[in-house]
Amino acid sequence: MAVDMDRLNAFIGRFVGDLGAAVHAGMVVIGDRLGLYKALAAGPMSSAELAAKTDTDERYVREWLSSQAAGGYVNYDEKTNRFSLSEEQAFALADEDSPAYLPGAFQLALGSLLSVPRITDSFRTGAGMGWGEHDENVFHGCEKFFRPGYAANLVSTWIPALDDTKEKLTAGARAADVGCGKGASTLLMAKAFPKSRFFGFDYHDKSIEAARETAKREGLAERVTFEVAKAKEYPGKDYDFVAVFDCLHDMGDPAGAAAHVRQSLNQDGTWMIVEPFANDDLKDNLNPVGRVYYSFSTLLCTPCSRSQEVGLCLGAQAGEKRMRQVVTSAGFKRFRRAAETPFNIVYEARP
Ligand SMILES: C[S@@+](CC[C@H](N)C(=O)[O-])C[C@H]1O[C@@H](n2cnc3c(N)ncnc32)[C@H](O)[C@@H]1O
Repeated sequence: MAVDMDRLNAFIGRFVGDLGAAVHAGMVVIGDRLGLYKALAAGPMSSAELAAKTDTDERYVREWLSSQAAGGYVNYDEKTNRFSLSEEQAFALADEDSPAYLPGAFQLALGSLLSVPRITDSFRTGAGMGWGEHDENVFHGCEKFFRPGYAANLVSTWIPALDDTKEKLTAGARAADVGCGKGASTLLMAKAFPKSRFFGFDYHDKSIEAARETAKREGLAERVTFEVAKAKEYPGKDYDFVAVFDCLHDMGDPAGAAAHVRQSLNQDGTWMIVEPFANDDLKDNLNPVGRVYYSFSTLLCTPCSRSQEVGLCLGAQAGEKRMRQVVTSAGFKRFRRAAETPFNIVYEARP
């Protein structure tokens, strides 16, 4: 077989981009931790000025700035020998409240990659790996990555896209956030709907501890309760609203979880299911977003499901058809896609 040199060179070009991106993940986490992006957002500066401002070593900072400029995350002016962030770069790298805040994604990636040796073994043994068995950067990175998207969409778009849910939450309702992780989504909803009572459940104790701390710090502990509980076992009945954010596919028995949600809702209740954006067929997910999700799914979601009873392993790219099967198998009569973004699909299920 003859190697086509043009195609080989194109593939190697792609590889160089990917290798740069892989090591660049560490650069972004360093820049985020040390406040380098935030300091640089103030205006153009030399490596010495940035180092002085952030109390860091100039030589390291110069090398880091060079990597950033080469990767297009920072701009370099050769006339002044100064570096700067454009408005857009600062929006995505230096502003934690921006809907496009990106550094959490790389923290999640680096934390997930620490499980590569164990997951390599899992390919041979088929063993699972529970969410709580990962490095703590997975939990913190996950929250940091997902919270901006929830802050941008949840209250303004996703909840209003559901039939009558916004009205119920505004008037005062009982709501559960199942698989809530560190509670970012629960707390955003609690702030937006002060007359409602919120219950966050997750089977990972450290995430629940962190969620409780945040609720206390933000003065929401009176109306928001966080408890360690599995999705098939969480307490309470007659909820008006149950939400699951990016976790149904992580569960070993999502159909069992759906049945538990069904019996915990009141007759007119609503279940909101937020899942990663995915098409039904593999061929339609072979794109950059699909690549991100299939890779995270290999390291996090599939092993998490495999570690639990049933071990259905939906994967992060299950798609609407598969989700509909899981949800309707639990007795939900109505199921529809209520909203979507490039990264998420929001489904509404009603009894
Ligand atoms: C990708 S994280 C999403 C966390 C949070 N919902 C968010 O959007 O930031 C998946 C979460 O599902 C939780 N989880 C997985 N299986 C679970 C189960 N069977 N019952 C309850 N929580 C579960 C994990 O502990 C983890 O916090």
